[in-house]
Amino acid sequence: MFKPTILHFDSIDSTNLEAMRRAKAGAPEGLCIVAREQTRGRGRLDRSWESPRDAGLYASLILRPKFAMNAWPLITLAAALAVQDALMKTIALRANIKWPNDLCVNDRKLCGILAETLETSLGPAAVLGIGINLRNTPNVPAEATSVESETGRAPEVGSLLAALLKSVAEKYEFLDSAKGCEQVIREWCAHSSYSAGRRVRVSLGDENFEGTTRGLENDGALRVETTGGRIRVVRAGDVTALRSMKG
Ligand code: BTN
Repeated sequence: MFKPTILHFDSIDSTNLEAMRRAKAGAPEGLCIVAREQTRGRGRLDRSWESPRDAGLYASLILRPKFAMNAWPLITLAAALAVQDALMKTIALRANIKWPNDLCVNDRKLCGILAETLETSLGPAAVLGIGINLRNTPNVPAEATSVESETGRAPEVGSLLAALLKSVAEKYEFLDSAKGCEQVIREWCAHSSYSAGRRVRVSLGDENFEGTTRGLENDGALRVETTGGRIRVVRAGDVTALRSMKG
């Protein structure tokens, strides 16, 4: 299991960008970049991630996985389980996992995860970026929430980060073991209300469709059954819950 080393920044463009710069320069697995604010926080699908000073936990971890690259997408799912576990342990907050990379409370987004891969002189690497909204800030979109809004208080960043890194290291170790991928997928399905029987709308940019979730593929892709009974496998795009929970 890797031992995390934490590097703190007051302000940075993006902890993911800094972790990628350092990974390219040969930084080892387990180096974690944390910042009080990001000026160019990155989200999925080329979106930005608002990162006001001291309002969130903004952290990125360098990983150098030894397992097959087709299992690398599972790092995001394992990280979502780790965030869920850390929030429960440090502040007793129960969050739901929304495919593939969000944690929500009452369908409002609390955390986003962005795993990016890159080539380095030491071989391929992944940077696992995690942003958790800790405090209420002005102009928070209606579809977002924070730990403070949900519990009445924001956790101390250091203890949440320590719990998070411990849990990420444990889940990441599973992935590297025999049957690890199956175990992570099973655990994800047990901990997400999106895994099966959930009515969703899938937006792929140029195409939208509705259907009912039917579990995950071996690489973490979401299976969605459309009205005609066809299973579509979703690897990108946005998934939004629709009202009916019936399958
Ligand atoms: C998403 O939901 O679109 C993913 C958001 C990921 C945000 C985190 S904050 C820490 C790390 N640094 C970044 O620039 N992005 C990730």
